[in-house]
Parts: sequence; structure tokens; C-alpha cells
Amino acid sequence: MQAGAVTDCTARAMRVVHSGPPQHLLRRHGVVAMMVRRGGRKRRRLRATPGYGGCRHRLHWRVRQHQRQGKHRHDHARKHAAREALQTEPWAAKVQHAQMVPARIRRCKLRQCYDAAMNYHHAFHAGNFADVFKHAILLGLIDTLKAKPTPFCYIDTHAGAGRYDLRHEEARKTGEFIDGMQRLHIATSLPESLRRYFDLLRAANAGDENGHLHIYPGSPLFASLALRADDRLVLCETQLAEATALKRLFAGDPRVGVHQRDGYTALSGFIPPHERRGLILIDPPFEAQEAEFRTIESTLAKTCARWSTGIHAIWYPIKLRRQTLPFLRWFAAHGVKKTLVAELMIDADDSPLRLNGCGMVVVNAPWQFDRWLERLLADLTPLLARSPRASHRVEWLTHE
Ligand SMILES: C[S@@+](CC[C@H](N)C(=O)[O-])C[C@H]1O[C@@H](n2cnc3c(N)ncnc32)[C@H](O)[C@@H]1O
Repeated sequence: MQAGAVTDCTARAMRVVHSGPPQHLLRRHGVVAMMVRRGGRKRRRLRATPGYGGCRHRLHWRVRQHQRQGKHRHDHARKHAAREALQTEPWAAKVQHAQMVPARIRRCKLRQCYDAAMNYHHAFHAGNFADVFKHAILLGLIDTLKAKPTPFCYIDTHAGAGRYDLRHEEARKTGEFIDGMQRLHIATSLPESLRRYFDLLRAANAGDENGHLHIYPGSPLFASLALRADDRLVLCETQLAEATALKRLFAGDPRVGVHQRDGYTALSGFIPPHERRGLILIDPPFEAQEAEFRTIESTLAKTCARWSTGIHAIWYPIKLRRQTLPFLRWFAAHGVKKTLVAELMIDADDSPLRLNGCGMVVVNAPWQFDRWLERLLADLTPLLARSPRASHRVEWLTHE
């Protein structure tokens, strides 16, 4: 399943509804459109004319009834968007008569269906070997950006919940963190390359009096701990529960913006950031497997053209290495420059049934980042290895 199409359609449908019909039609139906200022931007809001007794919900419903009767062009566009959602997403067929339902309710139902259709919850995997690999590299990239005093922007397209309690049922059920962060925790000594990662892991657990590491920070929390006061974080997450947890976690932090949106489609609106410097982390759940690679490629084609200097870090899972080759070849074929790949295999890639490793592609890799990665992976591989056939590699896919 591809999330982009759904939110794209619903977002378009909502936009059409909010742009609304012309004033004279609204007035005839007991409605006035007012311009209100919200967060520095002027927006159009519908209000009842004086004496209108219905609730706001009924009011919107009347407007849409009129649109249907009048075959207004907005109505055509709205119906088209809803129909497109129904055709492209088989699960969306659950929302019967989508065109007849007010947009707010329809969006709500589409969202419920979408959330129900997505099986992925990062709480089951928090702190596993892939998280250690990904977050250690993320911190390395953030540190290179911090080498300059000018502020930068960190964009996380698939943010997750931001913070995971390893005592909770989900984490205990899989126990994946035991072969991940726990191995670092019990190691007698940690190499220098992993110090920064581990210090921030401890900082996220600062509230624990006994020094236990029960909390595992997700990429947004790791980044927020590493970023400076004038740097900025943009976090996208589609699932309602995860996005709500993120908003709660970062409430009161003026550096952070949380968006409950499809990270792929939202991205073009965030780049280039006004800071002109920064990093995008693309870390999807890969529920769609092969199709996810194609979605990443089409997103990168747009973002690399729009923001040619931005650092892009893309995490991907490896069952069999050969399955990832078309994705890795895409960068050279599409002229994407300064692209580095780092892979960690904790096992031999001889079974397509389990996760044997993972990789990170870094577009616009900072100067000498390959050397730093080489050191990090040489330290990390023996710590996380599941078999003697564990290995790692760091390679340039494309140069300047
Ligand atoms: C692998 S987890 C993210 C983990 C997080 N980056 C971290 O390192 O802690 C993927 C998350 O992306 C969310 N997601 C899936 N598709 C999405 C989309 N198209 N846009 C934004 N978020 C999405 C899922 O709900 C899930 O929480």
C-alpha cells in the first residue's frame, strides 16, 4: 500500500472544500465567508449569517448540498479527488458513498481506514540493530552540520512516535532491542565512534534514578537532543497515534514542527528551507517493499532537483543484497552526485525471510564522511553481529 496517494487525494479534496463556493451563493444559503487571520496567514472561514440556527457542521453540509445541486466546479474537483482515492486504494472502498459524505467526516474515515491498514508500529522494533545503525549515522551527519555556526533544518519524513518505552508490551514481545542497543549497554567498553550515540541515549534516560535505559529515543528525539537552540526540526508522521505522541513530546519546544501528513508529498513544501542548510531523513516502514523503493526514487528525483545541496539520508532494509541493487543503481543513472552508501550485514544474506542487514544512502555526503563511516561500522559490526558472516561496506555510488 502506498500512503502518498491517499493523503494526496484527501488533502486535495480538503483544499477544494476550503476554497469554497463564491460569496453570493453562500449568502443565499445562510452562510458568509469571512477572512480570519490564523498564525500570520489569512484564511477563509465559513460562518452562519445572523439568525441562522443550525450548528457549524450542518452549515458546511448545506454548502456542500448546494455545490452538488449547482454542479459547481469545486464540487467536480472534490468528487474527482474522492473517486480517485476510491479507485487507487482498494481499502478506501470501505468508505461507502465517499462523495456524499462531508469532507471532514470523510477525511476522518479515510484516516481511520489508513491507520487500520498500516500494520507497522515502530514500538515493536525500537532500539534494534537497525535503529542503532541508523541513529549513530544520523548523529554523525548532524555533527558535521554543526561544524558551522549557521543554523540548519532537520526534516524527518517518517518520524514515528519519537520515544519508546522498552518496558512496554510491544518492545518486550519482539525483544529486538536485546540484540541492538542492549548489546552496547552491556559491552565492557565502547569505542569512541559510538560515544556520542550512547551519551544521547543516556541523556534520554536522564530521569531514571537507577541508571536504567528503559527509554529508547526515536530519530526525532535523538535529533532534538543534538540540535542547537537556533536549529529547526520538521517532523512528518501519518499515523494519528504516533503524531499525537510526537506533538505531546515536543509541546513547548519552539524549534519543532510536527505535521500529521504524508512525508513524501509534504517534503516539497519544506524545501529548500530558509536556512538553506540541512538534512532530510527518509526512514519508511517498507511495508510496500519494492514499491517503497520506487516511491523514494520519485521523491528524490524531485527533492534533489529542488534542493541540490541538501543532505538526504535514506535508510533501507536488506534481506538479500541483490534485491537492493536496482535502487542503488538509480543514483548514478539519474545523475545524483556525491552519493555514499553504508551497509551493515549482521548475518549472511542467504535468506529472504529475515532481516539480515540494512543500509543508508547519503546524498551530498559531507567531506570525509566516508572515513568516519568506515570507522563507525568497523566498531559496530562485531558488537551487533548475529553470525561470524557479519560484514559491512562503505562505498561511493557517485562522485562530485
Ligand atoms: C520506521 S518508522 C520511523 C522511525 C523513526 N524514523 C525513528 O528512527 O525513530 C516509520 C514511520 O513512518 C510512518 N509512516 C508510514 N508511511 C508514512 C508516510 N507516507 N509519511 C509519513 N509517515 C509515514 C509510520 O507510521 C511509522 O511510524
